[in-house]
Amino acid sequence: MSTLLDSLSMRDLEVPNRIAVSPMCQYSCEADGMPTEWHHVHLGSRAVGGAGIVMTEATAVEPRGRITPGDLGIWSDEHAVALAKTTRFIREQGGVPAIQLAHAGHKASKCRPWDGNVPIDPDDGGWEVLSPSPDAYPPFEGEKPAIRKATVDDIQDVIDAYGAAAERSLEAGFEIAEVHAAHGYLLHEFLSPVTNRREDDYGGSFENRTRLLREVVSAVRDVWPEEKPVFVRISGTDWLENQPSWDIEQSVRLADDLESLGVDLVDVSSGGLHPEQDASGGPNFQVPLAEAIGAETDVAVGAVGGVTEPEQADALVRNDRADLVLVGREFLRDPYFGVHAASALEEDASSRWPVQYRRAVR
Ligand SMILES: Cc1cc2nc3c(=O)[nH]c(=O)nc-3n(C[C@H](O)[C@H](O)[C@H](O)COP(=O)(O)O)c2cc1C
Repeated sequence: MSTLLDSLSMRDLEVPNRIAVSPMCQYSCEADGMPTEWHHVHLGSRAVGGAGIVMTEATAVEPRGRITPGDLGIWSDEHAVALAKTTRFIREQGGVPAIQLAHAGHKASKCRPWDGNVPIDPDDGGWEVLSPSPDAYPPFEGEKPAIRKATVDDIQDVIDAYGAAAERSLEAGFEIAEVHAAHGYLLHEFLSPVTNRREDDYGGSFENRTRLLREVVSAVRDVWPEEKPVFVRISGTDWLENQPSWDIEQSVRLADDLESLGVDLVDVSSGGLHPEQDASGGPNFQVPLAEAIGAETDVAVGAVGGVTEPEQADALVRNDRADLVLVGREFLRDPYFGVHAASALEEDASSRWPVQYRRAVR
């Protein structure tokens, strides 16, 4: 039986505990996708706070793949050079730096949430967004962006962009690459029959709808060293029971395919594709999805969503419901959630605090 504070071995990587900072957009770049001091301090603080894995926000593999102009990017070598400072710091704190590689698809070209989250008018710097089937989209609030139906050449460009982004991520010092295929962004849009109405090799059957993700994962795995892990985040279900949609049965089948392509862990979130989704929320609400994939495949699983308490996170690992626990909003409220969890679960956790802070916890 493993516990939350036990290390996790994947390939040649040893993660010091089972606590990960879930990827969270900070919308804090200028329009060039370059990290700022905010990213360094934000991610660095969570490493000081004892997270085993510190994952970046959704990081765009090409400029068109940003949700907002404030999103982080990894489409040039300059991005990699700038991110290296933060990966080095995370490592110095004993954490494992991970990057989430993303393409926002039709959900791109929006204002930052605090500016209203609405599509940006092309005259105000909005850009053409990419989608599998432009007509299939649930209505946007506000003005519709210019949607481009992805041609086979566009699809190849996306695959190549993921491969190049993974190479740069390695240069930047990341130990784990996570492919973002959840929350209604480009790769999820191809997976779900709700948003994928294509009739070519990338639409229709399960095999065709999953083709783009499988090709992206292969491109990443090809350049990502054998000794380092690759994760994929999926939405375990669209939460749309009354129409043909993406569901847990397909997720289990996909996870099996991903494992055979060299994916080490499936990070199981849900929804984000359609405004009519019927999701419950609350503590552990997505855990049964991770648990199902863990039980029915050989791939490791990450659970996320509504985890706020050390004992709750520990129980997920102890009861074999997940191999890794990703914590989002609680890490925003408490950057030291990792060391606080250790203090709650161990008699003497003082050695888990940075030496600089130990006088405060002895
Ligand atoms: C501010 C914010 C930004 C987020 N950005 C991302 C993101 O970039 N990529 C992603 O996969 N999920 C993103 N999420 C979802 C979180 O990673 C997480 O799955 C979700 O918040 C549920 O976990 P929690 O209940 O621990 O917060 C974001 C969530 C928040 C609150």
